[in-house]
Formats: sequence, C-alpha cells, structure tokens
Amino acid sequence: LQTDLLGQIDAAATPEAIEAVRVAALGKSGSVTGLLKTLGGMSPEERQVEGPRIHGLRETVTAALGDRKAGLERVALDARLAGETLDMTLPADVPPAGTIHPVSQVMDELAEIFADLGFAVATGPEIENDWYNFTALNIPETHPARAMHDTFYLAGEHEQPMVLRTHTSPVQIRAMQAAGGNQPVRIIAPGRTYRSDSDATHTPMFHQVEGLVIDKGITLGHLKWTLETFLKAFFERDDIVLRLRPSYFPFTEPSAEVDVGYTIVNGKRVIGGSGGGNGGGWMEVLGSGMVHRTVIAAGGYDPDQWQGFAFGCGIDRLAMLKYGMDDLRAFFDGDARWLKHYGFSA
Ligand code: PHE
Repeated sequence: LQTDLLGQIDAAATPEAIEAVRVAALGKSGSVTGLLKTLGGMSPEERQVEGPRIHGLRETVTAALGDRKAGLERVALDARLAGETLDMTLPADVPPAGTIHPVSQVMDELAEIFADLGFAVATGPEIENDWYNFTALNIPETHPARAMHDTFYLAGEHEQPMVLRTHTSPVQIRAMQAAGGNQPVRIIAPGRTYRSDSDATHTPMFHQVEGLVIDKGITLGHLKWTLETFLKAFFERDDIVLRLRPSYFPFTEPSAEVDVGYTIVNGKRVIGGSGGGNGGGWMEVLGSGMVHRTVIAAGGYDPDQWQGFAFGCGIDRLAMLKYGMDDLRAFFDGDARWLKHYGFSA
C-alpha cells in the first residue's frame, strides 16, 4: 500500500490531485484510516507489531504529501518569477506635464516678431500710480476717460491714488524716461492689465502689448507699415488687409483704431483677406496713433524735435483670433484639457 500511495503522490501534478490522494488515504474512509481502525480489534500482541507499522505508514504518507505540495508550490513560484520579469531599463511612464499657455506663447511670438524690427521689450509695474496711468498720458483728473477705464483703486492712504494699471500705456512714459530724452525709443511692453469688467470677452485681469517708437521724423506711414508687418508675421499670412479708422485716445493725436479683414471658413471667422464682400468683414484688433505732444513732453522729450507713434493691443484677443478660442474666461481656468484641445499639449 505504501509503495502504491507514494507512487500516486509522485504522479499528482496539481494541488487538486494531491488533495484527492490525501482524501483517498487519510480521509474518513481512506485506506490508511481503514487500517488504523483495524488496530482496535487486534490482540495486544498483534497491535504491538501492527501499531508502529500502520502509524509509520500514516506518517510516511503525510510527509510525502507535504513534500509533494511544497515542491509543486516551488515550481509554480519559479514559473511566475520567470514570467514576471521587470525590465529596469524600460523608460518610465511620463506623467502629464504642463505646457506653455497660449498667452505666454503669443507674448513670445510678439517679442520675436518685434525683435526683428528692432524693438526691445520694456516692462513696468502692475500697481501703478495715478500720474503714470493717467496724468502723464494726457488724462487729467477731470477727464471722462478715467471713468471709461473701470479702474481698480488701491485702498488706503497714498501720496497719490494707486491703481492696478488699466492699460500698458504707462510703460510709454517709463520707457521714454529711461531713455533719457535724447535718443530714439523702440519698445514693446507686454503684460497684465486690469479693469473691473467680466463677460465672455472681458476678464478683470487681461493682457496687453504696448508699442512705442520715438524718433525724429516719424509719421503715420511708419505706424501703418509696422502694424502691417507685425500682423502679417503674427497671423502668418500675406493677405492681411488693414483699415485705420479715425478714433480718439487722449494720448495720441491723431488716433486710429485698426481693423483687420477676415473671411469665413467653415462657419468661423479667419483673419486674412476680404474685409468686405464674400461674407467677410472687419475686426477691430488695436488702438493706435501719433504720440501726443503732451505725452512726449511728459516722457522727457522735446516735442518740437521728437515724434512718435504708439499702439496698444489685447494679447488674449490676439491669441483667440489666431488659435480659434471663443471664450476668454477659459484662458484662466487652468484646465489642461482646454489647452490640449487647442493644440497646446506638451
Ligand atoms: N491704451 C489704449 C487702450 O487700452 C490703447 C492704445 C495704446 C491706443 C496706444 C493708442 C495708443 O485701449
């Protein structure tokens, strides 16, 4: 019986097969259990001989079952280890990374385009005093333009009212002052601006880029050429058409609002071409003009000798037009899916 059982244990190739052998030998009605039961009916002499033999059989079978089971488990573990190799040289999964924001992207594009035209980048503070934001730009205290700007004023006592700058135009004054009144100025000034206003196309914080040229003999022709060259480079199209509409800004005289022509492509307005006809039209993109004498003087230049032009333009709006976004508020939600949708994935 022992030889038979050990043979069966040896042949059992799965945990289930081993269990079956165990039940057949050591279970309630198993063969070894049956032998153990016969001990009760034996004479003491017989039992002295048979007892150790039968108990020995049970121990041998139990040990063989244990060994076989452990052996099978070892084989299974080896197989799993062999199958589950981990290649430490594989590149790791790259977690989603941040990416450049459309506004930053457009600021970079502007800096690059204007660098080619000889413009440096200038900056100024976002918390500005009343003089730089208004007075020096020919907007005196009683001027209605102050009300038009929906200005955020800072609380508390200050030497003069402090505001969150309502436009980048104060950088015109700072750039002229920095240049010292005796050399040409060619700068753009991109940055944050603030007005108390909020809907699909206005956010209380928004971005503008200012442009300023001060030199001798500057005319409206220089302004128009510069804007045309800039917009063609920015929208990457040669068929950009411009319309300068007479307008009013306190700090420029004459002043012009600049429209660019658009055409309709797949139901969407696309900058380039038309301006009128074929369902196209004009879209306002910036304000501009010849720098007012008073402003040139406030910047420390002699307006009898120096002239200039200036323009101011919403950067968020430029980004919307170039990349086809339609709700300005989404710019500041920080939703990576929105960036990805417009092609700004890393
Ligand atoms: N500062 C003006 C605005 O915010 C834009 C502008 C700048 C117009 C420079 C003319 C010249 O609307």
